[in-house]
Amino acid sequence: MRASVLTTVLCTLQALAQDVLSFVDPLIGTINGGNVFPGATLPYGLAKAVADVDGQNTGGFGMDDSRVVGFSSLHDSGSGGNPSLGNFPLFPQVCPDDELNNCKFRIDDRKVGYDLSSVVAEPGYFALDLESGIGAEMTVSEHASLFRFSFPEGTEHPLILLDLTDLWKSRQNASISIDESGRMVGNGTFLPSFGAGYYMAYFCVDFFGAEIYESGVWVNNRAGTEPKEIFITRGFNLFYLEGGGFVRFDGSDDGVITVRVGVSFLSSERACRNAELEIPTPLDDFDGLVAAAKESWREKLHPISVSENGVTEDLLTSLWSGVYRNMISPQNYTGENPHWDSGIPYFDSFYCIWDSFRVQHPLLTIVDPVAQTQMVNSLLDIYQNEGWLPDCHMSMCNGWTQGGSNADVVLVDAYVKNLSSIDWDLALEAILTDAENEPLEWSYRGRGGLQSWKTLDYIPYLDFDPLGFGTNSRSVSRTLEYAYDDFCLATLAAGLGRQDLYDKYTLRSMNWRNLWREDQTSFIDGEDTGFAGFFQPRYLNGTWGFQDPIACSALSGWCSLTSNPSETFEASIWQYLFFVPHATSSLIELIGGDEDFISRLDFFHTSGLADISNEPVFLTVFLYHYAGRPSLSAERIHTYIPAYFNSTLGGLPGNDDSGAMGAFLFFSVIGLFPVAGQNVYLIIPPFFEEVNITSPETGKTATIRNVNFDPSYEAVHVQRATVNGEPWTRSWIGHEFFTAGWTLELELGADESDWGTAVEDRPPSWV
Ligand SMILES: *[C@@H]1O[C@H](CO)[C@@H](O)[C@H](O)[C@H]1NC(C)=O
Ligand SMILES: *[C@@H]1O[C@H](CO)[C@@H](O)[C@H](O)[C@H]1NC(C)=O
Ligand SMILES: *[C@@H]1O[C@H](CO)[C@@H](O)[C@H](O)[C@H]1NC(C)=O
Ligand SMILES: *[C@@H]1O[C@H](CO)[C@@H](O)[C@H](O)[C@H]1NC(C)=O
Ligand SMILES: *[C@@H]1O[C@H](CO)[C@@H](O)[C@H](O)[C@H]1NC(C)=O
Ligand SMILES: *[C@@H]1O[C@H](CO)[C@@H](O)[C@H](O)[C@H]1NC(C)=O
Ligand SMILES: *[C@@H]1O[C@H](CO)[C@@H](O)[C@H](O)[C@H]1NC(C)=O
Repeated sequence: MRASVLTTVLCTLQALAQDVLSFVDPLIGTINGGNVFPGATLPYGLAKAVADVDGQNTGGFGMDDSRVVGFSSLHDSGSGGNPSLGNFPLFPQVCPDDELNNCKFRIDDRKVGYDLSSVVAEPGYFALDLESGIGAEMTVSEHASLFRFSFPEGTEHPLILLDLTDLWKSRQNASISIDESGRMVGNGTFLPSFGAGYYMAYFCVDFFGAEIYESGVWVNNRAGTEPKEIFITRGFNLFYLEGGGFVRFDGSDDGVITVRVGVSFLSSERACRNAELEIPTPLDDFDGLVAAAKESWREKLHPISVSENGVTEDLLTSLWSGVYRNMISPQNYTGENPHWDSGIPYFDSFYCIWDSFRVQHPLLTIVDPVAQTQMVNSLLDIYQNEGWLPDCHMSMCNGWTQGGSNADVVLVDAYVKNLSSIDWDLALEAILTDAENEPLEWSYRGRGGLQSWKTLDYIPYLDFDPLGFGTNSRSVSRTLEYAYDDFCLATLAAGLGRQDLYDKYTLRSMNWRNLWREDQTSFIDGEDTGFAGFFQPRYLNGTWGFQDPIACSALSGWCSLTSNPSETFEASIWQYLFFVPHATSSLIELIGGDEDFISRLDFFHTSGLADISNEPVFLTVFLYHYAGRPSLSAERIHTYIPAYFNSTLGGLPGNDDSGAMGAFLFFSVIGLFPVAGQNVYLIIPPFFEEVNITSPETGKTATIRNVNFDPSYEAVHVQRATVNGEPWTRSWIGHEFFTAGWTLELELGADESDWGTAVEDRPPSWV
């Protein structure tokens, strides 16, 4: 009884306030390399429907005025590199002169422009008009998509084809068969877009709203009504074989053909069942599905509330859209895993943890702890079934490891924040496996170079490693990340009463010091930056190697796993200088003290060396806290938001990476920035007068309030702070803030004060 009364009250209140979904713009990041998925999806949904283009298409669609190649139902969001998924696109068209073989079948022949102004993207809904005069609208359930294609008036025999390809053209082989009702079923074998192995996907497509005129299959640029099924292989080299099925209709009354697409990773029977269960009456279900999707999204965003006083619509849109994008992936593949079924929820599309451990998972821990718990348990499920935690996992396959074994950090972050229903002994075992056992193939699991790590206490440049094989680069970034991973291991071990392990791994967590080269200098364009002391690669025999500290920075070219592999991954030595999250005060000492550390940070952020488009930079914005200058962190973040994170189409500085850019913005603007793996949030004034976050676990509401709020952000200096009315001198706070529903009040002023400057008030550093 109480629950329903409460629900009514909440709904009434909600109806009065402006709908938060009006601030969600899924199109942010659809140009300029954000690579977001802007189509229709439920939170964490498996079915993701959108128009796929031949332009920026790693997430399917780009607002880049390129051409539409099809409408498909599986996608990832924010991934870089190869386009991901995009399996089994549909494509509607009208055959000139009503002649089947006048239709265009191959991608390059059929692709067609779209009207930019016709694009509508909302949570649970996507639509656009093709230049061919055909309109497309789509929505989804958990495992199925529903499309409505409107053909121009008077179209005699509209055609819809299904292409047995994916966006990356990674198909190895595939099958389709079509029955008298027009139902198409089939499957294909494809490659993960950033990983090893292959996966199979299945479909079941039904058409509604018109009688079938004829059906058949097509191969390359020819189609016929017999046979009704084909099996196609890959073709070879440049000759990618294109093929699939088609149906033509007797023109319907209103010109609209409705198509229901069930998808599955298990079987086409499963795909049909998913579709029939979730979308039983396709001609009537469209609006209801859109409404249900919107309601799910509202519910997911419900824990957050911000005061709109004085703030721009741009900021509100950035915030809500950023949080929204964090719940597109990882995806809920429960019941869809062909390799095992442990009877617990199963998530996939951890794409990739090197990107998501820093802010995406910490965000989910706050706003959707149930989902985060299921994700952590899925990582442990993967460990139990595959033997290792993944660093990256998509389409049921292992993805390539970028840095350390950073699933360790995700697990320990959940531990220090007290997520319940997780087997922590199993988590310890999984992390110990990363720390102690080297897999034969460490490109997609575990760590490489463990022999050296244990005996030399660093990962050597050009390591000799006969135990396992991987891309033998990144010795500096791997050393730094393994050190932090070992610290996280020590944290969990201590919590579980394992002092022996705590001692061992805290010691190992200081291995980063072995790559510190005190006299290393750094030049830009021949000019000495004046700073000495940087991490450097080191050979097995202890002799120093050399990597220019500015290499792999925005000033001097890109480094990734495959392009220009270096001793640091996707970032420079300048960037990695700041990655010792457990021992920042030791680092500050090594650098020469607070003043020197601050000049380094300032130089880094103002010289073009800082790459705000990639995740390693995130924490550096707030590291001033560790030198007793929280005001400088507050000033620094205002140089990046909204200049680099805003609500324009190109308003993300880089790859969203499954929501990471949105999560960075979320924490920055609510004024509490997480140090992943530790029970620590660094405090700065929020960008809003007041922020409320209601814990879905405890139902308690945490409030962060700015007194003397200044929407021009001149006054961003905390003068005094209180928690629940009591003075709070520390510049950081723990997760209890959220679960216990505390109130943090910050009194702001135009000048820096001594709040948070005392050594004992700085964020914790192990040594
Ligand atoms: C399709 O390709 C996969 C991956 O190469 C292979 O394992 C499978 O046997 C092939 N299927 C058929 C029916 O040839
Ligand atoms: C793939 O689909 C074809 C055509 O429907 C079917 O004959 C074949 O058995 C399917 N393969 C699998 C592995 O389900
Ligand atoms: C935060 O919660 C308090 C207490 O319920 C309420 O008075 C205040 O209006 C809320 N502020 C926002 C921004 O939602
Ligand atoms: C994922 O799906 C399963 C099966 O429907 C469900 O039990 C679970 O709660 C879902 N997880 C989330 C976070 O929605
Ligand atoms: C976790 O639980 C312990 C024991 O109940 C408690 O002392 C601690 O404050 C909790 N931490 C958080 C972040 O809630
Ligand atoms: C250490 O090894 C490197 C790389 O093989 C070599 O260039 C260097 O001369 C060696 N140093 C010593 C002291 O042997
Ligand atoms: C919005 O962000 C993008 C991406 O970082 C940036 O290029 C652009 O200049 C920003 N626009 C505004 C108006 O600040």
